Amino acid sequence: MNLDFQQLGPSISYILQGIQVTLQIVVLAALIGFVFGIILALCKISRFKVLVWLANIYTSVFRGTPLVLQLIIIYTGLPELTGIKIEAYPAAVAAFALNSAAYISEIIRAGIQAVDKGQTEAAMALGVPPQKTLRHIILPQALKNILPALMNEFISLTKESAIVTVIGVTDIMRRAYIVGGDLYSYLEPLLVAGLIYYVMVMILTLLGRKLEGRLKKSD
Ligand code: ARG
Repeated sequence: MNLDFQQLGPSISYILQGIQVTLQIVVLAALIGFVFGIILALCKISRFKVLVWLANIYTSVFRGTPLVLQLIIIYTGLPELTGIKIEAYPAAVAAFALNSAAYISEIIRAGIQAVDKGQTEAAMALGVPPQKTLRHIILPQALKNILPALMNEFISLTKESAIVTVIGVTDIMRRAYIVGGDLYSYLEPLLVAGLIYYVMVMILTLLGRKLEGRLKKSD
C-alpha cells in the first residue's frame, strides 16, 4: 500500500471548501430541528390527546425510516407529487431538520419528564401559572439534563450530513469523491474527508463540554 498525499495538492482546498457547505446545512437543520423538536415535545406532554397522537406518529415515521430515503423523497418525490421543484440544498436542510426534530422531541420530552414532580407541585402551591412554571422552572432544569443527549444528536447530524452527496450537494464527502475520481485514487481524499469530519466532531464535543461546565457552575 502506498499512500500519496502529495498528488492531492490543490485539491485539498477544494475539499476544505466543503466544510462551509456541510456547516451551512447542519447548522440550519439543527436550529430548525431544535425549534420544531421543542414544539413536538410540548405536544407530547400536552393534555390534548390529538396533539400527543400526532406528535407520536410523526416521530415514529421519521425515526422508523432511513434518513437517506427521506432525503431522496423530499428531493425527487415531492416535485412529482406537488409539482414544486426543490433545490438540493434546501431539500437537504428540510430532510435533516424534519428528521432531527423527531429525535430532539424525544430527548426534550424525556428531559422534561425527568424533572422532579415536586418542582411543579411547589410552583403550583406558590400560585405560579402553569405556562410560567414550564418556561421558568421546568425547562431550564430540563435543558441541563438533556445537554449531553442534545450534543450527541448534533454530532450525529454532522456525520449523517455526508449522505447529501446522494442528491448531488457538493459537501465535504462529495468533493472528496470527485477528487478521487479525478486522481483515480479514492483513499487519500477520503482519508482527508474523514479527518475533517473528525475535527468537526471534536470541536463540537469540546463546545458541549464547555457549555455543560458552565451550566454546572450556575448550580
Ligand atoms: N442512519 C440513520 C437513519 O438513516 C440515523 C439517522 C440519525 N438521525 C438523527 N437525526 N440522529 O435513520
